[in-house]
Amino acid sequence: MITGITEPSQPSLQVADVTVKFGGLLALDNVTVDVPTPYLVGLIGPNGAGKTTLINAITGVAKPSSGHVVIDGKDVTGKAPSQIAHMGVARTFQLPQAFGHFTVVETMMLGAHMMLKYPWFAGVLPFGWARREEARVLEKVEEVIDFLELERYRDKVVRTLPYGVQKLVDLGRALVPNPQVLLLDEPSTGLTREEKENMARFLLRLRYERHLAMLWIEHDLELITDLADRLVALCFGQVIAVGEPKEVMRTPEVVSAYVGAAS
Ligand SMILES: Nc1ncnc2c1ncn2[C@@H]1O[C@H](COP(=O)(O)OP(=O)(O)O)[C@@H](O)[C@H]1O
Ligand SMILES: [Mg+2]
Repeated sequence: MITGITEPSQPSLQVADVTVKFGGLLALDNVTVDVPTPYLVGLIGPNGAGKTTLINAITGVAKPSSGHVVIDGKDVTGKAPSQIAHMGVARTFQLPQAFGHFTVVETMMLGAHMMLKYPWFAGVLPFGWARREEARVLEKVEEVIDFLELERYRDKVVRTLPYGVQKLVDLGRALVPNPQVLLLDEPSTGLTREEKENMARFLLRLRYERHLAMLWIEHDLELITDLADRLVALCFGQVIAVGEPKEVMRTPEVVSAYVGAAS
């Protein structure tokens, strides 16, 4: 039981005994993780532990050889990434992708187009329904830009912007389809102290005001211990500790995983 927070009845995202193999490498070995709404679950572990692979397994990019991924009570194991996205799951990338010469608004629109039922070119055709859908997406993009305080960058080409802003644009792209579950692959890595605090402020607002369930991969252990409701520690594809953040940080397995990684 985590003090001060009501325990949710059902986890929004359940990863149950998931194994992912790359040839002879066991990238995830019987991994079980619950992310209830509206919890912020921190995922820590040395490089190569399998953190990104876990996000890939949840989003349908990596195929588990055994185990289950369950979203809102529905088993989605083996489903295509687009189907899983439609169930309200979105992710950010360790290295944000800045496509071509697209602006902030265009990049966020692209994210949403992948979710729409009509092909992207329908937006330029004189069909009422496509136009209405387009207007609805643009409205959502403007709301996200407002939320992330990106107004002054809205018409700038993404790849010309500071790295911290590119990371926010990537978060914005993930938020446009209104996800219920947000998977964050090192949102603060490479950011300055100030940018990091800014990013953390937005992610906390998503958890406390919008009640998103979040799985947040983080290398800044002090930051994630402070902010997460629960921590999961991975090492060599296995969960070595899970629970209250400060307790997880004290477990001998976690201490030695980091000492081992640093030496
Ligand atoms: N597509 C892939 N093909 C082969 N090996 C991979 C692939 N993706 C990841 N790996 C390997 O799986 C392990 C876990 O990687 P990853 O999930 O990226 O770790 P982390 O995000 O914790 O740093 C690493 O040994 C990595 O080299
Ligand atoms: Mg990674």
